[in-house]
Amino acid sequence: MNKTILCIGAGYVGGPTMAVIADNCPDYKVIVVDINAERIAAWQSDTLPIYEPGLQEVVERARGRNLFFSTDIIAGIKEADIIFVSVNTPTKTFGEGAGKAANLQYWEKTARDIIEHAESDKIVIEKSTLPVRTAEAMHRILQSNTKGLNFDIISNPEFMAEGTAVDDLEKPGRVLIGAMEDESGQKALETVANIYRNWVPEEKIKKTNVWSSELTKLVSNAMLAQRISSVNSISALCEKTDANILEVSSAMGMDPRIGSKFLNASVGFGGSCFKKDILNLVYLCEFHGLPEVAAYWEQVVLMNDYQEERFVRNISNHMFNTVAGKKIAIFGFAFKADTGDTRESPAIHVSKLLLEERAVLAIHDPQALKYAKLDLADYEGDISYETDPYKAAEGAHAIAILTEWKEFRDLDFEKLYASMEKPAFIFDGRNLLDHQKVFEIGFNVYPLGQKALSHL
Ligand code: UDX
Ligand code: UDX
Repeated sequence: MNKTILCIGAGYVGGPTMAVIADNCPDYKVIVVDINAERIAAWQSDTLPIYEPGLQEVVERARGRNLFFSTDIIAGIKEADIIFVSVNTPTKTFGEGAGKAANLQYWEKTARDIIEHAESDKIVIEKSTLPVRTAEAMHRILQSNTKGLNFDIISNPEFMAEGTAVDDLEKPGRVLIGAMEDESGQKALETVANIYRNWVPEEKIKKTNVWSSELTKLVSNAMLAQRISSVNSISALCEKTDANILEVSSAMGMDPRIGSKFLNASVGFGGSCFKKDILNLVYLCEFHGLPEVAAYWEQVVLMNDYQEERFVRNISNHMFNTVAGKKIAIFGFAFKADTGDTRESPAIHVSKLLLEERAVLAIHDPQALKYAKLDLADYEGDISYETDPYKAAEGAHAIAILTEWKEFRDLDFEKLYASMEKPAFIFDGRNLLDHQKVFEIGFNVYPLGQKALSHL
């Protein structure tokens, strides 16, 4: 077996993962290919296609040494014996399972490219998040080759989060590798484990069967999202009872069985993975005749929609039951802080609902304005995009905080207040601000899951 690794798909997952592998494994040659030539050119340039702290340095250390980016998928397939596949698997928009199931067409096309061009045995690794038992179908397709070649299929899902990708890859909580239980599968598992052994301690390498590995990825995201939906549901009850969600979360999180992380109430969770993966899980449960299990997990997504809708209803209710013609400054459009990514951002849904109520929106975000414009391009209404938060708030009736950017805390709220219409409102969808302080300036403040601070 030669030591050349190919990765098909140079996206958020493939790019950083391969850069960290190349950086830590100087004995391996790592080639990353993509059908998108623009993206490959960006990986070869000083302006990488994605921003992640520390990524530029990692790429620069390895690029040209043992890390290469290319559009030549065929040459890559011929050269490498180990092939990671991290093409995207979006939610299906057509046919059976539309809106829930994963669209596997890119994956299948990639498998077919591999059999067409392979000249030697390969290990094919699922890096993309896939429905459980995809490996079975892929294995059948790969083994249908008429060249007498052997293909082992391995599941090795990625758990990194955006904004901390390099750290998560360098010090992973676990590296999960799932393989078929036959001799060939187990040998392939060891080959893949040997890559990670270059920098990951043995006890962090978790070996399972291939189905457990595929399912673990979906369930890990579903469990994380479920924590947020659970806390968000309780934030609604807190607002009715004068309990405080911050106190409830922190007191509850002191139980080590519950744990303190991922318990921050918010306007809703976003990102490219949570919703997609839960809906995929729901579809799988339906497919396998488990409607109760499907309904249980679907509720996590429905609760997220509810939280976003509830946030908008609160805005309208507190602003005298109408936002029509009122300017609302949206502070934060990214799905979380420290990223320019807006995929499935709660800000999209919230903006859409506010526009339906005929509010006038001025959107400010330190990183995400480019994508915000694209996300709202098809919506009708009065929308402006401001790089200057003070400009966004000028003449506004309210500020709605939708992303937990730290810099929002340091804004001059006296200045913001002075330029706004009165009464001025703040709706803090991330419980980010010092609410007492802004209340004393004159704002009517509506945090999440906490008592409102109102002068009215
Ligand atoms: C990945 C996984 O693939 C997805 O299943 C997981 O849930 C999230 O992470 P991500 O890296 O975020 O997706 O996707 P994206 O940034 O869209 O990158 C995928 C890349 O694959 C794109 O650059 C696309 O051009 C490329 N691609 C797609 C191919 O090279 N060939 C194809 O046939 C299809
Ligand atoms: C997630 C998983 O964390 C990662 O393991 C997986 O590989 C990909 O999906 P990511 O989408 O980058 O990563 O973001 P994450 O940090 O998990 O946040 C997801 C969403 O939940 C964000 O919108 C965030 O603001 C929200 N969130 C997170 C909350 O609302 N409250 C919390 O307590 C934590």
